[in-house]
Amino acid sequence: NASTDNFVIDDEIVRNIFKVRQDFAHKGTYGKSIIVGGSYGKIGAVVLAVKSALKTGSGLTFALAPNCGYETLQTSTPEAMFINGGEKNIQQIIAQKDAVYVIGPGLGTEKDIEKALLEFFEDYHSPLILDADALNIISKSENYLKLIPKKSIITPHPKEFERLFGKTANSFERLDLAKTKAKELEIFIVLKDHHTQVVTPEGKVFYNITGNSGLAKGGSGDILTGIITSLLAQKYTEEEAAILGVWLHGKAADFAAEKYSKEAMQPTNVIDEIGNVFLYLN
Ligand code: APR
Ligand code: MG
Repeated sequence: NASTDNFVIDDEIVRNIFKVRQDFAHKGTYGKSIIVGGSYGKIGAVVLAVKSALKTGSGLTFALAPNCGYETLQTSTPEAMFINGGEKNIQQIIAQKDAVYVIGPGLGTEKDIEKALLEFFEDYHSPLILDADALNIISKSENYLKLIPKKSIITPHPKEFERLFGKTANSFERLDLAKTKAKELEIFIVLKDHHTQVVTPEGKVFYNITGNSGLAKGGSGDILTGIITSLLAQKYTEEEAAILGVWLHGKAADFAAEKYSKEAMQPTNVIDEIGNVFLYLN
């Protein structure tokens, strides 16, 4: 049913989802976010995701990255802890049951990383967030799609979506295919675009109308994954985390564009505006 299953993410929807921070909270109240990614020359993707998770309110935040990212991560973001994923690239992903994972930013798609991801899927069956190179690894074999834990959130841009599920003629067909796959795999698909769509396993579609072309720059997607991970760690449901996450990301970008212009605004400026979005909500 087309009309009842389609929603525009407006302020009312967002305010219904948003939860005010509890006075008696401690860091355990707001969960554990683990960002898995990075490779030589792409540690910045993890830095952006980690910073975004922190700014969104995650209780404890970890970067699980190759050893070459150690100094960069510890000095750029002292609030986050570092977990060594191996010497060259990620050779291991440690599965912890009480943590929320995002896997993918700057990860690389080499064989040893593919192996680490497959081993991780054997031990870990809770919902997680998969982005970027994690999606590119999953695209390597049709059998890998079934390994995604139920209720996970995947955040493909149009090219990543195509690699995962195949070519479509236009954005209408793409949305239809996303609905079919979200149902079949029981996952949430965040179809990133000018108007990002959150597709739920029940076939509902939420259209985001915040955000602007100032986001059309490398690194913007890493911010979104950090935000969604943080919300999931803070016990928002998967659906709530995806909807609130895309809205927050776009709203922060709109604030950044007002201050700096769409041209000059940087992903880092978007992270800096996350606080003002929370002030707007509070
Ligand atoms: N209008 C509104 N939003 C936009 C626009 C636009 N014109 N262009 C981009 N965005 C938003 C998207 O909706 C999405 O949330 O910016 C984000 C871009 O995400 P990605 O395409 O994943 O970009 P990026 O940060 O560069 O990804 C990092 O991961 O996906 C891989 O190959 C990619 O190496 C790159 C890395
Ligand atoms: Mg990306």
